[in-house]
Amino acid sequence: MIIKPSIRSNVFTNAHPLGVEKFLSNQVEEAKKHPSFKGPKNVLIIGGSSGYGLSSRIALAYGANANTINVSFESGPKGKRTGTAGWWNNIFFQNLAKETGNIHKDFVGDAFSSSMKTDVAAYIKKTLGHVDLIIYSLAAGGRPDRETGELVRSSIKTIGESAKGKTIDVAKRQVKDLSVEPATQQEIEDTIYVMGGSDWQDWVDYLDKESVLAQNVKTISYTYVGGETTEKIYRGGTLGRAKEDLESKAFEINKKLSERYNGEALISSSKAVVTKASVFIPQMPVYVSCLFDVMIKNNVHETILEHKYRLFKDMVYGDKRIVDDKNRIRIDHREMEPDIQDKTAQLMQNVSDEKLFSLKGTKQFFNEFYQMNGFEHEDIDYEKDVDMDALTKLKPE
Ligand code: NAI
Repeated sequence: MIIKPSIRSNVFTNAHPLGVEKFLSNQVEEAKKHPSFKGPKNVLIIGGSSGYGLSSRIALAYGANANTINVSFESGPKGKRTGTAGWWNNIFFQNLAKETGNIHKDFVGDAFSSSMKTDVAAYIKKTLGHVDLIIYSLAAGGRPDRETGELVRSSIKTIGESAKGKTIDVAKRQVKDLSVEPATQQEIEDTIYVMGGSDWQDWVDYLDKESVLAQNVKTISYTYVGGETTEKIYRGGTLGRAKEDLESKAFEINKKLSERYNGEALISSSKAVVTKASVFIPQMPVYVSCLFDVMIKNNVHETILEHKYRLFKDMVYGDKRIVDDKNRIRIDHREMEPDIQDKTAQLMQNVSDEKLFSLKGTKQFFNEFYQMNGFEHEDIDYEKDVDMDALTKLKPE
């Protein structure tokens, strides 16, 4: 099969397996260059097949020599379908991580379901005994209702007033004006149900009930705070409400873990990066492109791997933790520097649509988005037939 990029509404509908392998191995090579640190032994990552969950997995498997279990929702190749990038990330991570000599296990299916929780707890009991870190890194568009099973969908909307902004249509390489409409009360509640913290809490409660949490266990989830330019659409909108719920659940989980295990539940406000989930959010492509441009110029740009490596080494397991008045770890402090925020806002306001595409930051944005789906890697021949029959035989372990 010859595989060319296919993008719909800023979401890749395919992936190039050999390019994804390259993308994955680049992150692993990057992780190997960092010194090792004393971290967790047994990590469960919920949402570890792409974006922040994947870079957390790589940072801990290589940086802390940890065993990892990953739960993700991905689909494999079938007929004309190439399989998702996350599917191939799982497969190629397993292949590479054999060199660590540790246990790395993948569960592919719905993390919201009780059957997944049962299977994962049973596996932990049988193999590792306990987990000492749980990373909750899901980004989902829907979650089945606990009682009826009906799919509840999240929406990305403002609250109160509509907001105007710009986004990039990645496939057409065009800037588009956008207007984001206010959510109804039901849409707000549904987004909290899907992207808030209740499923994180369900996971911890279930693993506690099954006695698979280690003494001093930690759990962490990722929020986004952002600045003025993203406020109306993100933090002040439906997603922001869901993140407030996630952050409030962290307090409840923390109480339980500290009392029972001398453990802790953490929230890290992470920086804006290019992932499947973030490129889909209106305004984010323009913001991230301008932010990258400013951060590169100011020598404070970090790759997604560097960001998560620093989070765990310095702020979760190290003694350089920066927290705010809501007790959130502020690993995003470089993005949030007033000077960086001001320069990004100015750039967003003043750059013409045409000029936006010539910025270093925008080139970086495009490059990362294509590369994480397996495209635009220099040493891959995209005219060459990909042997999907052979690749289809590879299954998650
Ligand atoms: P992503 O789209 O790259 O990864 C999402 C992960 O969730 C994937 O592994 C996917 O398979 C998994 N997933 C989705 N639905 C699932 C289900 N039903 N069952 C099992 N797995 C499922 O997203 P990204 O950006 O890495 O987001 C992860 C978290 O980080 C989110 O909570 C997001 O809000 C947060 N975050 C992201 C930032 C960004 O700029 N990308 C910034 C700050 C926080």
